[in-house]
Amino acid sequence: MNITIIASIDNANVIGLNNSIPWKIREDIAHFKKTTIGHSVLMGRKTYDSIGGMLKDRLNIVLTRDTNKTSDDQNLLYVNSFDDALDIVKAKYFSELFIIGGGEVFKQFIDKADKLIISHIAGEHEGDVFFPAIDENKWLSTEIISKKDFVITTYRRTSQ
Ligand SMILES: NC(=O)c1ccc[n+]([C@@H]2O[C@H](COP(=O)([O-])OP(=O)(O)OC[C@H]3O[C@@H](n4cnc5c(N)ncnc54)[C@H](OP(=O)(O)O)[C@@H]3O)[C@@H](O)[C@H]2O)c1
Repeated sequence: MNITIIASIDNANVIGLNNSIPWKIREDIAHFKKTTIGHSVLMGRKTYDSIGGMLKDRLNIVLTRDTNKTSDDQNLLYVNSFDDALDIVKAKYFSELFIIGGGEVFKQFIDKADKLIISHIAGEHEGDVFFPAIDENKWLSTEIISKKDFVITTYRRTSQ
């Protein structure tokens, strides 16, 4: 099973402000949807709250320290650890787990990922949540796709 991080980050690594994303780029939202549809997605509880509902046609796994959270929907699961998320994804035979945010989750689990799919958004924005630095000794950019307002770069891990 592959573990992929997907994120949109600006030139200063900003990813969020006031529990939302500081930009709205339709083509980037479409890219996110197309890439993750049919797969499992893991997110922090704050990101889940900020989305305001489940992402359709994906297994939504929400990481929380609250051990009492439960869901009636088979496509929404709460877990208390990354390993519990992995166990679920493996048991359900998903080939790919996308880690979709936010900052706390990216920072803790970037070292678990095999691949990063990063939308680099031009400019610098006001922000209170940041993506961790992408260490050039660990990550090699293998694909670059230029869009109108952003550039999608795929990075593959070169070492731990
Ligand atoms: N630009 C992008 O690509 C992108 C993508 C996603 C999100 N965002 C933005 O990022 C911001 C949210 O990020 P954030 O860092 O504030 O929060 P977050 O990472 O979305 O969620 C943090 C929460 O996740 C749970 N959690 C984290 N680590 C855990 C662990 N090891 N074990 C169990 N639970 C754990 C905790 O939930 P409990 O408090 O329930 O215990 C914690 O409060 C928002 O502004 C959002 O819009 C941006």
